[in-house]
Amino acid sequence: MTMISVSCPPPAIIRTLKRGRLWRAVFGALLLGAASPSAFGEVVKPLFQHELPNIAGEAFTPLKIADNGKDPMTNPGPNNPASATPAVTAPAAPTPQQMVDALHTAFGDHHSRAVHAKGIMAIGTFEPSEAATKLSTASIFSDGALPILVRFSDFTGIPEIPDNIGDANPRGFAVKFQLPDGSTADVVSHSFNGFPTATSAEFRDLLLAIATSGAGAAKPTALDTFLAAHPIAKTFLTTQKPPPESYATLGYFGVNAFQFTDAEGVPHFVRYRFVPVGGEALLTPEQLASKGPNYLQSELPARLEKSSIEFTWYAQIAEAPDAIGDPSIAWPESRKLVKLGTIKIDRMAPDAAATDKATMFSPLNVPAGIGPADPMLGVRQGAYPISFQHRQ
Ligand code: HEM
Repeated sequence: MTMISVSCPPPAIIRTLKRGRLWRAVFGALLLGAASPSAFGEVVKPLFQHELPNIAGEAFTPLKIADNGKDPMTNPGPNNPASATPAVTAPAAPTPQQMVDALHTAFGDHHSRAVHAKGIMAIGTFEPSEAATKLSTASIFSDGALPILVRFSDFTGIPEIPDNIGDANPRGFAVKFQLPDGSTADVVSHSFNGFPTATSAEFRDLLLAIATSGAGAAKPTALDTFLAAHPIAKTFLTTQKPPPESYATLGYFGVNAFQFTDAEGVPHFVRYRFVPVGGEALLTPEQLASKGPNYLQSELPARLEKSSIEFTWYAQIAEAPDAIGDPSIAWPESRKLVKLGTIKIDRMAPDAAATDKATMFSPLNVPAGIGPADPMLGVRQGAYPISFQHRQ
């Protein structure tokens, strides 16, 4: 399939999203329309066009919590723990188009999201906390309760990936907030506290190595070689949690850091996390054995028939010497968590397939008072609209 060639990011899409026209239409339909749980068939189509290499069971290096000095952020300031980090010359960042191409090379081009292709959408409300308004002037925290559209997803760009296998980790959770002025804001997270690589360039190398390391590839494969040189990536690929009982029973992490600016102009460097109010619940191997390939997709509507789902949204606050611009290094668990608010999910999004196709979550669709603090966000900002346009 040929790629649509677009500029990065496509200005028309960005403008449309910023003005909120598309989202006003989507939210209008969602919030005014009758709720009708989407029907997900249990039929599994033939699977991997690109077989994923199986590295489960290999020895791994525990995730390190340290400042490796890579990718120092570009917003020095009094509260910026990374401002003391010496600058290093980073490899040139790949273009967003190169990143989307690399995702297609690794997972196949299924005319779907280039990654996190399999997902399910629901709607609800965000109730901000008082504490959030002390950290950032962003309207998302000061406009009262806001309607939200959320999407849970499995990893990889394979739309039929079975929910019940390890390669579907990490799971994704994306939230779109509808603001009173018609604009929107997005948060995109996944179920691992970290990223396999420090930079986009290394992530591209990893994707290209995955693409050539499937069954039958000569040993050592490109992936073997990459993981030998990148122990954090190996940790990421080999220490994912077991599949969850539900998308609602997992914690999710924003991974890339943002800068919050408060009313006095003071910056605060944060990473997001969503914690399920009912607690995390993962499957034992025995429980997993009874689950089908679409068990997460069918579990969510059944759960929402009975009760709503709640997550607490927190900002983890960086302290010196936390690496702000390196998403592969988790900040210490001792860092302060400030509650930003409560995410309450009530019902399935109506018109599931159309809504899924028409929706793009962009990690840099954020209001004033929130800004990027990790260079990877710039590449992501360009890549998401390219994938979005390609799958229309
Ligand atoms: C250089 C790094 C990254 C690149 C190039 C990248 C690229 C992409 C692309 C192209 C999409 C599909 C967008 C669409 O078609 O709508 C996507 C979706 C997604 N990404 Fe990333 N991504 C990166 C890093 C991350 C990180 C760090 C996270 C987790 C915090 C993440 C989580 C997700 C999730 C959950 C989705 C699905 C969003 C949805 O439900 O629509 N990505 N990514």
